[in-house]
Amino acid sequence: MLSSAPATIAVLASGSGSNFESLVLAARNGELGGEIAVLLCDHPSAPVLERARRLGIDALCPPAGRFRTRLEDERPWLEAMYARAVGTVLLAGFMRRLHGTLLVAFPDRILNLHPSLLPAFPGLEAIRCAWEHGVRVTGCTVHLVTADVDGGPILAQSAVDVREGESLASLEARIHEAEHELYPATVRRYLSQPWRREGRRFVFGTAENAHA
Ligand code: GAR
Repeated sequence: MLSSAPATIAVLASGSGSNFESLVLAARNGELGGEIAVLLCDHPSAPVLERARRLGIDALCPPAGRFRTRLEDERPWLEAMYARAVGTVLLAGFMRRLHGTLLVAFPDRILNLHPSLLPAFPGLEAIRCAWEHGVRVTGCTVHLVTADVDGGPILAQSAVDVREGESLASLEARIHEAEHELYPATVRRYLSQPWRREGRRFVFGTAENAHA
């Protein structure tokens, strides 16, 4: 897959939004390969909304519905994206799984950032789970979003060594630092370089060996 026009991007986030901000700054510097047209958030009091205001990015909170772990109705979210001609969706700390409507509307066009080396520690509290487990290496992963939670094809990973006696807070800070590098760099590659899927494998290619 290869797009020639700069991509129009929506970011979905639920919380602090440090990754949203790193994506916006990369886009501003021409380092993302696309423009962030809108932030969609499921919590009207989330700090990411204040960041969007400060950064001058259009932000919306479409109704999230009654369920804690998924959107009850994805159609208002889809409509907000269609209204802005969004072609690529980036989840950045979005704490609900997606189901039919959005996955069908954006096949292989939704990316997620997860704070572990998947397939280890999927789901919530991944950094804490890895730290409590006593792993020596953890990190972060960028993957395609599919119906399989945190299970889609992997585009990139960054490893972070756990230091002897390291606190959870310190490990969290270092993983976030790695995320702020990995996500924009991977999005840029995804938007600017040919790629293809081979089963569950995501393959970056060259113009010669990837079908555009
Ligand atoms: C990030 O660590 C991201 O990997 C994680 O939430 C954090 C959001 O931080 N996402 C998940 O756990 C998704 N399952 P931020 O709001 O500061 O960008």
